[in-house]
Amino acid sequence: MPVIIDGKLVSNQIKNELKEKTLKLFNERNIIPGLALLLVGDDPASKIYVSSKEKACAEIGYKSVVKRVPAETREFDVLKQIDEWNQDATIHGILVQSPLPPHIDSNKVIMRIRPDKDVDGFHPENMGRLIIGLPGFLSCTPAGIMELLKRYEINTQGKHAVVLGRSNIVGKPIANLLYQKNKNANSIVTICHTGTKDFGYFTKQADILIAAMGVPELIKAEHVKEGVVIIDVGINRIEDLSNPKGYRLTGDIDFNSVYAKAKAITPVPGGVGPMTIAMLLQNTYLSATGSIKFY
Ligand code: GUN
Repeated sequence: MPVIIDGKLVSNQIKNELKEKTLKLFNERNIIPGLALLLVGDDPASKIYVSSKEKACAEIGYKSVVKRVPAETREFDVLKQIDEWNQDATIHGILVQSPLPPHIDSNKVIMRIRPDKDVDGFHPENMGRLIIGLPGFLSCTPAGIMELLKRYEINTQGKHAVVLGRSNIVGKPIANLLYQKNKNANSIVTICHTGTKDFGYFTKQADILIAAMGVPELIKAEHVKEGVVIIDVGINRIEDLSNPKGYRLTGDIDFNSVYAKAKAITPVPGGVGPMTIAMLLQNTYLSATGSIKFY
């Protein structure tokens, strides 16, 4: 039976730890961590994500400022809002929820956020810091995966980690974190993507398999070896008429198929997902305390 890596439990532990530290930070230094969130348009999933982040802030005693603006908002006004938050000393983290409407250049928006307030870790400065092993903000989902591996004492040293997917948000940063020379990484990393003809050739070699390609239940027992540690980043909605909602959430891994072969596995939901918000809160705390030195 594999160990089920419980991201919900770990994220609650982290949130409780942060809640205590936040109270102490206020009592000792009169600082309240502040997170600003910008939601452009009314994408249903984005609305839920932003509300969850706002709620999580309230739960642990952070200040949050949420600005919801229509999809037609000009790029100029989005950048102006970022400039305002960049200069506001009570705001320690700035997050612009993606996806943005097509008339707004998301790269321009990401690059406008001060790197020392970029709690999403999307700014090229933070991505660059990650690659060269300098302190910086780590993007939240990869940071959450590293935290799960650490807390579940998964040995990564010299292990073959296979990453499926090369997105800027997950695939690229997690691959770069896993090969870093430190005790919680030092893996040998392979990245598979849409250009990989026979992904099974690689996944069968994986000691640690990170699935973040967004294809529901693609990975089955025949694609993995006995004793693999599986981290499933996928969140896909698939039709399920036996469910009252008419759909169910599933990962990029066929959980039931690989279950008997895995040493440890994250479920969907309740695995990696809840860790993302916990890491966002952690990054905001690190920003509020000035723990990461930006020169
Ligand atoms: N959209 C989906 N995931 C994320 C995230 O982690 N941060 C932001 N800003 N937008 C997202």
